[in-house]
Formats: sequence, C-alpha cells, structure tokens
Amino acid sequence: MIQTNRFDLTPREEIDAMSTVNKAGLEDVVVSTSDICFIDGREGRLIYRGYDVDDLAAQSTFEEVVYLLWYGALPTKKEYDAFYKTLSATATRKLPPKLVALLRGLPKKTTPMEVLRTGVSALSAFDPDDPDNSREAEIRKAMRLTAQMPTLVAAWERIRRGKAPIAPNPKLNLAANFLYMMSGKKPTELAAKTFDVALILHADHEFNASTFAARVTAATLSDMYSAITSAIGALKGPLHGGANEQVMIMVDKIKDPAKAEAWIRKAIADKARIMGFGHRVYRVEDPRAKHLRRLAAELGRQAGDESKVKILNTVARVMTEEKHIYPNVDLYSGAGYAAMGIPTDQFTPIFAMSRVAGWAAHVLEQHGNNRLIRPRAEYTGATRATYVPISQR
Ligand code: CMC
Repeated sequence: MIQTNRFDLTPREEIDAMSTVNKAGLEDVVVSTSDICFIDGREGRLIYRGYDVDDLAAQSTFEEVVYLLWYGALPTKKEYDAFYKTLSATATRKLPPKLVALLRGLPKKTTPMEVLRTGVSALSAFDPDDPDNSREAEIRKAMRLTAQMPTLVAAWERIRRGKAPIAPNPKLNLAANFLYMMSGKKPTELAAKTFDVALILHADHEFNASTFAARVTAATLSDMYSAITSAIGALKGPLHGGANEQVMIMVDKIKDPAKAEAWIRKAIADKARIMGFGHRVYRVEDPRAKHLRRLAAELGRQAGDESKVKILNTVARVMTEEKHIYPNVDLYSGAGYAAMGIPTDQFTPIFAMSRVAGWAAHVLEQHGNNRLIRPRAEYTGATRATYVPISQR
C-alpha cells in the first residue's frame, strides 16, 4: 500500500512505490466491492446473491437466475411470470431482418465467436434504448441481449450450413428454445434440463476476465452493448471461455478411453497446459464441474457414447494425482453439448449466452456506483532517450 500522498513524490518515486503492489495478472487484487457473486476458492463454493449455485442448479431455472442477478433477490410468482413473459416473447427474441442479412453476408468460415462479437455489437444499432444508460433502459437492453444472443448463435449455425434460421418458439424456455432453433427439433427433456442447468452454472463468476472487461468498458460510462462486446472478446481466449472448445479438441485427439492415461502422462511430462484444469481462485475442484460431469455422463449414456466422459475422467484422475490441479467448469461442459449434437466451436458462444446475465448485472452495478477503472503500469522502459532524426538513424 502507498502510505505517502502520491503528489509529494516524484513521478519515478510514485511508480516505484506503486510497483511494490504490482501483481502480475492482478492476482488476488480486489478492485471493487460487489453484491453479485462470491467464490470461496478454498471450500469450492460459488454463491450468486447469497444462494449456493448447487441449490440453484438443483431447484431453479436460468430465467429465475437472470432475475436474481439483475434485481438482487428471487422474484415472487407474479414478478417471475412478467419477467419470463417478456424474456421469452418472440418480439424480444427475434433478430432484426437487417441483422440476419448481415449474417448472410459474412464468409461461411467466420467462427461462431466472431459472429457473436460482431452481431452483438451490430444489435446496438437496432435497439431503441441505445443512447439511454438509465437503469430501466439498461435492464431492457440486457433483456433483449439475453433473449437475442441464442437466436443469433442458432441463426449462424443454420446459415453456415446453408439452411434457413428457425424462428424462436415462445412456448419453450430459453434453453429448450435454443436447442430447437439449432436443430429444428424439440429437445428431449434430459437435454433441455441439462442445458438449463449448464446455463445456470455459467451465469456469473465474480471478476473473471470477461466480466472485468465489461466493467472496465462500463466504467468509462460507455453503454451496455459496448461492455458486452468487450466481454465477448475477452471470453473468446483459450485461457478463459475458449477452454471448453480446446477440451473437446483434446478428447477428439485421444479418441479411445484406453489411450487416455498414456496420453495425459505424456502431456504432463511434456509440461503441456491441459485445458479444463486449474483456476486462479479455486484451490479445489470447481463446484460447477461435478454437476456438468454428472449431466455429461447421463447424456452420453442416452446418446450411446460414454467414451468422452470416460476419457475426461481418466485425464482428471491423473491430473489430480500427479499435479494436484483440479477440473474447472470447462472440463465437462463440452462433452454434454457434444452429446446433444452441438458442434465444438459453438461451446464458447453458449458460455456467452449464459454469462451475458452476469455481465449485464455487473454493468448495472458499475453504473450504479461508478468510478473510472484506470490502473498504472510499472514502467520498465527508457526515460531519457535522445531523439535522432530519421535521416541519421
Ligand atoms: N495444465 C497444466 N498446468 C497448469 C494448468 C493446467 N491447466 N493450470 C495451471 N497450471 C500450472 C502452471 O503451469 C503453473 O505451474 P508452475 O508454477 O510450475 O509454472 C501453476 O500451475 C500456476 O499456473 P498459472 O498459469 O500461473 O495460474 P493462473 O492463475 O495464472 O492461471 C488458468 C489460471 C485458468 C489460466 C490456468 O489454470 C490455465 O491455463 N488453465 C487452462 C485453461 C482453462 O481451463 N481455462 C478455463 C478457466 S475456468 C473458466 C473460465 O474462466 O473460463
């Protein structure tokens, strides 16, 4: 901590004083208070607004969790019904035709995360509330984004396969409607329930990289769409949301459960980074992993392919025994999605479809008590370089 008034110091002394608190990657740095989400990294607990995610996964729905994150309390029946009705209305879910035309104009090789980042940014141009940053307008924008992102993800899946997008079905909840818009078929009860639980489990996670990116953008008093677009960009990387895709790429490489043990032992010996393991905050297994492991196993059994979960279980056993590094949320989610027939490069957009609930809650909280987020660097470059004209270099 800097004890002296920083204005009494020379610029160099000021930076030197600050560098005593320089923590690479902002590890364990607390940048703000927040009422939204708590992670107990030692006990492996995750809490949204006071409620344990284990209880929410067992008893709640994604729509109710969205309400909880934005309004800070569980809804009454009346509040829930009104909220659910707006969130699932076709008017809220459907995409502007000009946005669909924009999607059709993209090269077919565009990745789903690129499409999502581009589409979400473009949606701001169609939002009647766009210039308004009041809480009421931001909730309406968050509602549209949460409802439209699944439509956008599914529309791109159809368009890139040369098929027409499927209109949302207001009779289905967000999870079931997404699976329906992807395939054109109503999902099984197990698939719809599993997907809903996966959405609950991914809905928020304190100041993770993408949420922090959203808050940094919001803290300049920029708007909801800009904040969510920043967050999508941060989520895309393989050290964050992109890890779930990388896990499935690893599973596809291993292919045979009988080969998993040798594969992971060699990877450990080669000092490889294994996706779906490790966490900045958890010192034990990520509490979300157990739910996704169970659901992926059930879906695998129903689909008649248990090999993916078997491979992951072997990899997890060896990683835990040899490295004491535990599964995170990204280890088992993809195996469940794959059993539902979802392509690997859609796993991270699905993560975003859920996390938008948390991102929006954090933008609302940031705007409710804002201060610009503007850290410093510990400058390690030269300070007295003499300029040499280009003709003399
Ligand atoms: N595989 C192999 N070694 C690992 C892993 C891993 N997945 N994770 C951490 N380590 C080792 C790392 O090599 C280092 O060892 P050493 O001290 O001997 O050099 C030590 O553990 C600390 O690692 P770190 O990279 O300094 O830790 P971090 O807090 O900066 O990184 C992490 C956290 C999540 C980026 C990292 O664990 C990782 O790269 N995991 C794989 C990617 C992944 O699954 N990401 C999803 C994270 S959870 C969901 C989400 O946020 O999207």
